[in-house]
Amino acid sequence: MNRFFLGFALTAGIAATACTSTTGGAGADTTGGDGASGPQPHFASLYADYFNKCGQCHAPGAVGATSTTEKSLDFSTQATAYATLSGNASGLTGNQAGCNGVAFIVKDKPASSLVLAVLDSATRSAIALTATPSCDTNAISDMALKVGTQPSAEFIGALKTWIQNGALND
Ligand code: HEC
Repeated sequence: MNRFFLGFALTAGIAATACTSTTGGAGADTTGGDGASGPQPHFASLYADYFNKCGQCHAPGAVGATSTTEKSLDFSTQATAYATLSGNASGLTGNQAGCNGVAFIVKDKPASSLVLAVLDSATRSAIALTATPSCDTNAISDMALKVGTQPSAEFIGALKTWIQNGALND
């Protein structure tokens, strides 16, 4: 009897946790990864497809965070991800310190956006930020390496188009 009840309580608990952690409060129809056509140039789709993985390290109390992890970003939910991506990098040390104060997104300019540069080597090698020249290819880390899986070419394409279109919270 007790064992049965415990099993039931555990299952219910896990189901409830899964529910709250995956949808990020953004609405059930925004998990773009399920669609037949892959990542779309909309933030909900980009978050569902790949950006949610960044929360392993970039979130308050994240298991993967260390003292050197960039400190502005919070990928816990789609809402915190969008809000913090609208700001600037902080807390970077050593080689990466040259990117402190740099905007993650420069609207309409994918080639100048740090969030694209950390995932796309072509953007990383060509980046030239006039106000912060020290945030160059040597100062920008490869975040796909940190995630452990590469974003798809479709994701990179959708991310570029999304920035080009003004990086709306859509
Ligand atoms: C395993 C932990 C981990 C994961 C996962 C991770 N990051 Fe990071 N991130 C770091 C650390 C640590 C730094 C500080 C720079 C360094 O040590 O390379 C950093 C730095 C950054 C920076 C500043 C880049 C620079 O070097 O100037 C950006 C932007 C960033 N991360 C975005 C992301 C995005 C977007 C994702 C998901 C695609 C992601 N990170 C996933 C740990 C992580």
